[in-house]
Amino acid sequence: MRKIIIDTDPGQDDAVAILLALASRELEVLGITAVAGNVPLPLTEVNVRKTCELAGRTDIGVYAGADRPLERALVTAEHVHGKTGIDGPDLPEPTMPLRTQHGVDFLIEQVMDHAPGTITLCALGPLTNLATAIRREPEFAPRVAEIVLMGGGYFEGGNITPAAEFNIYVDPEAAATVCAAGIDLTIIPLDCTHKALTTRARVEAFRAIGTPVGDAVADLIGFFERFDEAKYGTDGAPLHDPCVIAQLLQPDLFTGRTVNVEIETGSELTRGATVVDWWRVTDRPANATVLGDVDAEGYFKLLTERIARL
Ligand code: RIB
Ligand code: CA
Repeated sequence: MRKIIIDTDPGQDDAVAILLALASRELEVLGITAVAGNVPLPLTEVNVRKTCELAGRTDIGVYAGADRPLERALVTAEHVHGKTGIDGPDLPEPTMPLRTQHGVDFLIEQVMDHAPGTITLCALGPLTNLATAIRREPEFAPRVAEIVLMGGGYFEGGNITPAAEFNIYVDPEAAATVCAAGIDLTIIPLDCTHKALTTRARVEAFRAIGTPVGDAVADLIGFFERFDEAKYGTDGAPLHDPCVIAQLLQPDLFTGRTVNVEIETGSELTRGATVVDWWRVTDRPANATVLGDVDAEGYFKLLTERIARL
């Protein structure tokens, strides 16, 4: 089993990613750390616990991390995700406890307590928690096996500004720290996730599972997709975050290349832009594997069969 920690800002797509991870026996979820992003931290941590309870996994350790970016004011996305952050299904208030340890302390403790190269970090939101751990503990980065993150955009541009994707935009300094940390890094940007649309047929396949979790996933997506369908005029919306987990389970669903990625932190106009040297026109070090394409049918097939297990 592959040991992972999920860092997340639920967010309907984050919730589906968490469910996919909890439904997959190949993965051992050591814990889930919440970060401020789509909605403020007091809501993202509750949303993680609601999702774990939906999956029947009240054993999972849920930790609250950073409540704001390293240097900037928090920017949230209630206009996309609703006021709770996971509008759609009516999920009960959680009864499982929030662990008292800070999420960043949990990340550092787990990485330092396990052998080097054991833990994969799955980042589904702004990178504040991961960057804080990297900056605080010099031994952290060398011991992390891999980071797989959803964030950025190159050919696809941005979704919160013309230049930047939300997760990177919210905390560009954190993203720059992660990209410079020398950790084995896989980035799944909008260029990839925009090819994984929640079409009507795919949403109905979740509904057809006929379980409370299947219905909740269909309801989560049903709410989440309305914003992007109106914006892009597409049948369905990009289901971003579960791509991170799917990449661990079935990497051959994705293709990409290992290139240099730098983050814009100086310009207000292009703050949070991921500058991807896709054509290798510079001699900057190739610090990330950037995934540009996904087999969408295979992705949703994997998702549907795994969600049916919960
Ligand atoms: O831009 C998409 C990303 O921002 C996803 O992770 C979504 O959950 C939001 O956090
Ligand atoms: Ca997210």
